[in-house]
Amino acid sequence: MKVNRKHLPWVKAVFHLFALAPIIYLFLLVFADQAGGDPVQFIIHYTGIGALNTLLLTLLISPAAKKFKMSWLMQTRRLVGLYVFAYATLHVASYFSFDLLFEWSLLGEEVIKRPYILVGAVAYLILFALSVTSFKKVMAKMGHNWQKLHNWVYFAVILISIHFYWSVKSEIIEPSIYIFIGLLLVGLRFKKLTSKKAR
Ligand code: HEM
Repeated sequence: MKVNRKHLPWVKAVFHLFALAPIIYLFLLVFADQAGGDPVQFIIHYTGIGALNTLLLTLLISPAAKKFKMSWLMQTRRLVGLYVFAYATLHVASYFSFDLLFEWSLLGEEVIKRPYILVGAVAYLILFALSVTSFKKVMAKMGHNWQKLHNWVYFAVILISIHFYWSVKSEIIEPSIYIFIGLLLVGLRFKKLTSKKAR
């Protein structure tokens, strides 16, 4: 069976399911006391990696749509992109609530101790800007500037990979792979990103 535009609602439903299942699974693990010895760390890691992986998947949609001549697939980009923001929000909220315990006075100390938090915060602001401008009406209003803003997603991938690399103490192989993938994606788009039209 060939998947085509007619199947878009079903494809979207499957994407929703795939994006929501890991969150439900996380809740089940936590409530069944199966989230490891340090559940707070577990939740922060799980949601952080979830956000980064979903972001990489978002960036694969456009090349996949071109390669397999499925232009309708582009209509799923917003949905998947918003899940990136949802996962990132769960990650940031878990940190502020379970780790920092909303002790805002400790935030300055935390940032000095873990400067990678600032890198993550810049990436989060970019994701926020991309999400609030993802509506069709805003897109139409922004015209050419919309694409210019949304090209910042590549910068976000690099920032998040650095945030990841910097946050780990010894296990550097996994974050190094993400930095490599981030640079590869930017490399593949370099011509487009530096063209006059993109500026
Ligand atoms: C204000 C923004 C952010 C804060 C405060 C924050 C906080 C943290 C903290 C505290 C850790 C380390 C956990 C630990 O090892 O103890 C971490 C790791 C991580 N964060 Fe963030 N983060 C932010 C933004 C983001 C964003 C936007 C993403 C992705 C979209 C992200 C993805 C990750 C990843 C992938 C890791 C590594 C997880 C692992 O070690 O398995 N973070 N973050």
